[in-house]
Amino acid sequence: MPTTPESHLLKHRAELQSGLLRWYRRNRRPLPWRLDPSVYRTVVSEFMLQQTQVKTVLPYFERWQAKFPDFESLASACEDDVLKQWEGLGYYSRARNLHRLAKAIVAKPVLPDAAKDWRELPGVGPYTAAAITSIAFGKLEACVDGNVVRILARLTADATHHGDGAAAAKYFTPLASLLLSPSSPGDHNQAMMELGATVCHRRDPLCRCCPLAQWCAATKSGSTEDFPKLQPKEIEHRSVTRAWVVKDGALLLHRSSPRARRLANLHELPTATHLEIDEQSLDARDLLARRKRGITRYLITESIYRISLSEQLRLGDSLVWISFGDLQSIALSGPHRRWITEILAMQAADKRNKILPSK
Ligand code: ADE
Repeated sequence: MPTTPESHLLKHRAELQSGLLRWYRRNRRPLPWRLDPSVYRTVVSEFMLQQTQVKTVLPYFERWQAKFPDFESLASACEDDVLKQWEGLGYYSRARNLHRLAKAIVAKPVLPDAAKDWRELPGVGPYTAAAITSIAFGKLEACVDGNVVRILARLTADATHHGDGAAAAKYFTPLASLLLSPSSPGDHNQAMMELGATVCHRRDPLCRCCPLAQWCAATKSGSTEDFPKLQPKEIEHRSVTRAWVVKDGALLLHRSSPRARRLANLHELPTATHLEIDEQSLDARDLLARRKRGITRYLITESIYRISLSEQLRLGDSLVWISFGDLQSIALSGPHRRWITEILAMQAADKRNKILPSK
């Protein structure tokens, strides 16, 4: 039988596992869910870390623990409070699913410990189920996300093309399972995540610091950046027109329905479509701000126009007036809070300049 990169890895599996674990125990970042672990803290951290970087999650995690320290306190909270705590972290369906998961957990006589049982809970896919059960219960479940795909594709210099990240994760799951340390699956999984985040970077990987470099086929051939072979995401450009409408010290906002998939119960500046405004009728002089943002594969240009109340506005049920004093206490999506703060600061500066004309 010829030696393949995969058979070479499997032959040295025990050395590879102990080298990886030694590296992790010396180099891991002291993250709060690692320093003081519990099932609940593992679950909250895994939900927050879905599609979000560690440094963004850290302050949210600490505030969340102070407000909802366990499954019981989260289960008995109202959804508005849960969303308010999540505000700015994005992908709000995660917050609603975590809330529903807490309710399902407290209704169970015992905490489930098998990945297949966790996967039946809201918001728990294969990766999250593997992370929770390996880290919190020591189960032999391999986590495979973009970081782990990158490491495995490089270790094996596997040139298979994958349509997207999910297809690549599925492809590499059998190898990840074979390599998983049987004695410390939770630490092994976290070591792979840590290696992907801090050493095996997409560009300019730090191969000289890598505990797996001696077994890495791509490092040997100097071709690390060529792996994995993933179809590039096609970026789609979109534009959205939004309205800034003020009446008696209150701002008009759109509140999404509790059933909306992405933004349930969150407030945003209303779009021209919400207000049935003809975009052609808007005057460039009323443009308050133009901002770009990325959501998944969309690059969205958001233009916010001042709309005067003399225009005929049709207000539907989901439109609400929120006084400027109450803006802090409602759940606003992150970019919208930033834009509103910027526009208010601009208007305050304009007012000051009018009162104190420059000499
Ligand atoms: N990404 C997903 N889960 C993680 C964890 N437990 N630690 C660090 N990064 C992660």
